[in-house]
Amino acid sequence: MAKKRILSGMRPTGQLHLGHWLGVLTNWERLQGEYDSYFFAADWHALTTKYNDTADIRQDTRLMFLDWLAAGVDPEQATLFIQSSVLEVAELNLLFSMITPVNWLQRNPTVKEQAEELHLAEDSMTQGLLGYPVLMGSDILAFKSDRVPVGKDQLPHLEFSRDMARRFNHLYGQTFAEPQAVLTEAASMVGTDGRKMSKSYGNDIKLADPADVVTQKVMTMVTDPQRQRRTDPGNPEVCTVFSYYKVLAPQLVSQVDTECRSATIGCVQCKRRMAETLNGALDPLRERREHFARQPDLLDDVIRDGNRKARETAQETLAEVREVMKLNVHTPAVTKSPR
Ligand code: TRP
Ligand code: SF4
Repeated sequence: MAKKRILSGMRPTGQLHLGHWLGVLTNWERLQGEYDSYFFAADWHALTTKYNDTADIRQDTRLMFLDWLAAGVDPEQATLFIQSSVLEVAELNLLFSMITPVNWLQRNPTVKEQAEELHLAEDSMTQGLLGYPVLMGSDILAFKSDRVPVGKDQLPHLEFSRDMARRFNHLYGQTFAEPQAVLTEAASMVGTDGRKMSKSYGNDIKLADPADVVTQKVMTMVTDPQRQRRTDPGNPEVCTVFSYYKVLAPQLVSQVDTECRSATIGCVQCKRRMAETLNGALDPLRERREHFARQPDLLDDVIRDGNRKARETAQETLAEVREVMKLNVHTPAVTKSPR
């Protein structure tokens, strides 16, 4: 039986951090062998909020791809591509915009939340941002994805894409299966200051950070604030460093717990060991990153091949869509690239 297909995307935000790695990329890496996998940079989605600040989108996309590759997302197994190179997604988005009631969008919780987060005045809500779920549904359906690995926050969007599929099927005949979520269990990583890890808080540890920077960042992490002196017993449950042990060195957790509570280990020593553990975990990523750094054309090849393959897949879907919608089927088909 043919492998089921998964598709997932990320907005190009530049260099990724431990949260992206342990929350998303390790899942992609795990799934890529089992499924026919498509992973893409959602640069059109980035425009829904960053349309006035596009200077870095290209560079951010490249940096993000490098992090994916460093993390072990494998272009031999998965198709990596850029959303804006698959024009068929835009076509499908347009067709879906014709059949999607505006009030479906107006009541979408994620769109509402996003609008609030951005402190958007009502008159600065763009058609694109309002239509975010339609574009995301178009991504998913253009590839006829069976499963979509996403975090919990994206579930309303996924539900929306099922509504889109159902409505389309009802209007034009059975064309799309309803895509299901693969809930990716995010090991949620806190930042060095104990808050949610985020580039905008400046508390993130980046996958591309060299070992000495990682060590330095770990050494600044907040610990149990009650543990003032080396001889004070600590409470690991309120310590940021300890939460890293839980994710990165579960085999050491009970030992650290005892050492901390009995003050047999100092925080400096405890952090040093975590820095070593983390650097050990990041070393394979550094090696893969080096591999791509040594051959700058490699990334371009990966993206070009991925874009082409993605486009061919979406073209198949769009040919079918035009057919069932009785649209002009003489639209130019596959653009064969010169390779
Ligand atoms: N909305 C997703 C996010 O912000 C990104 C995304 C866009 C996506 N299109 C998608 C994810 C299709 C999965 C499938 O993280
Ligand atoms: Fe945290 Fe380790 Fe210090 Fe305990 S000893 S407070 S776990 S850094």
